[in-house]
Amino acid sequence: MARMNRQVLLASRPQGWVVEDNFRIVDAPMPVPGPGEVLVRNEWLSLDPYMRGRMNEAKSYVPPVQIGEVMVGQTVGEVLESQDPAFKAGDKVLSPLGWQLFGSAKAKSLRKIDVARAPATYYLGVLGMPGMTAWFGLSEIGKPKAGETLVVSAASGAVGSVVGQLAKIMGCRAVGIAGGKTKCDYVVDELGFDACIDYKAGGDVGERLRKACPNGVDVYFENVGGALLDTMLAVMNRFSRIVICGFVAEYNATEPYGYKRLRSILVNRIRMQGMLVFDWEERYGEAIEALAKHLAAGKLKYRESIVEGLDNAPKGLIGLLKGENFGKQLVKLA
Ligand SMILES: NC(=O)c1ccc[n+]([C@@H]2O[C@H](COP(=O)([O-])OP(=O)(O)OC[C@H]3O[C@@H](n4cnc5c(N)ncnc54)[C@H](OP(=O)(O)O)[C@@H]3O)[C@@H](O)[C@H]2O)c1
Repeated sequence: MARMNRQVLLASRPQGWVVEDNFRIVDAPMPVPGPGEVLVRNEWLSLDPYMRGRMNEAKSYVPPVQIGEVMVGQTVGEVLESQDPAFKAGDKVLSPLGWQLFGSAKAKSLRKIDVARAPATYYLGVLGMPGMTAWFGLSEIGKPKAGETLVVSAASGAVGSVVGQLAKIMGCRAVGIAGGKTKCDYVVDELGFDACIDYKAGGDVGERLRKACPNGVDVYFENVGGALLDTMLAVMNRFSRIVICGFVAEYNATEPYGYKRLRSILVNRIRMQGMLVFDWEERYGEAIEALAKHLAAGKLKYRESIVEGLDNAPKGLIGLLKGENFGKQLVKLA
């Protein structure tokens, strides 16, 4: 029987939380690479919070996925056939081919990955977009100095785990915020943060943050938004910095959260800046080199959360948006 492709398409736009009915899984003909194109068998698919935004109608910093289109996403895979001299069969590549088993991509949209240096999946995580987000957000916007205190939310996740470990490497006190005791224990015991606040444990999160940060907070790396950002605004130091990296707590909300403590930005002269990792695209190599060096030296620990099979990708994304992942969320395709 002829080999078929399999794809996950966007079937409808979510109203609030994503449900499995928002996706349709189909068999499709095998793609055929044209001139300048490369046929790739995807082996791993990255699931990322930004995908929720791409399911909405509204244009964000990039256009939405259209109904009936293959869901967007980065993959790592193997070249099966190349119509471009830059690639040959057997090369391992990073691709933008999305939620499907096979795809044909323009050669210039692919990047070769060095699997002798690190496992292929790391190029979707600590050596990929999330790791580089942590690197540039911290070094270009947060700019922590040795001896300062940094707090990061979603601290056990793909971006947050790297942020806190880099802050430790830079000589800072690193405090995480994460959901649940297991994640918090991991952040402190395995990743080496100085403390981690379990925001799901009840009680006054602000009060616990004050205890964990006796000298206040100099840099806050925001991955979550909503009520947590209001809580943080109350504990920031004068002339502190807030890196706005993500608002995952708001991605499924039907109404924007109404912030209550913005006056703290004025009173404390806080510098708060949004970031998108793509703005540093020309400098990705620099971040990958630095992160790979720290990994090789055993200074960066990393964990992954794996869903098996393309058909389970929708469940994986739904779980990620609910915080059910523990580490970088991936789908094993082959
Ligand atoms: N600006 C950029 O260029 C860029 C690039 C990459 C990622 N990001 C952003 O960075 C953030 C983290 O992304 P990631 O890929 O590293 O994901 P991740 O942290 O591995 O996974 C998402 C985590 O968010 C936390 N979360 C979910 N809902 C929450 C809620 N209501 N309140 C508090 N925490 C919640 C959960 O952790 P807990 O169980 O600990 O709550 C969940 O595990 C996201 O906001 C993402 O959009 C931005």
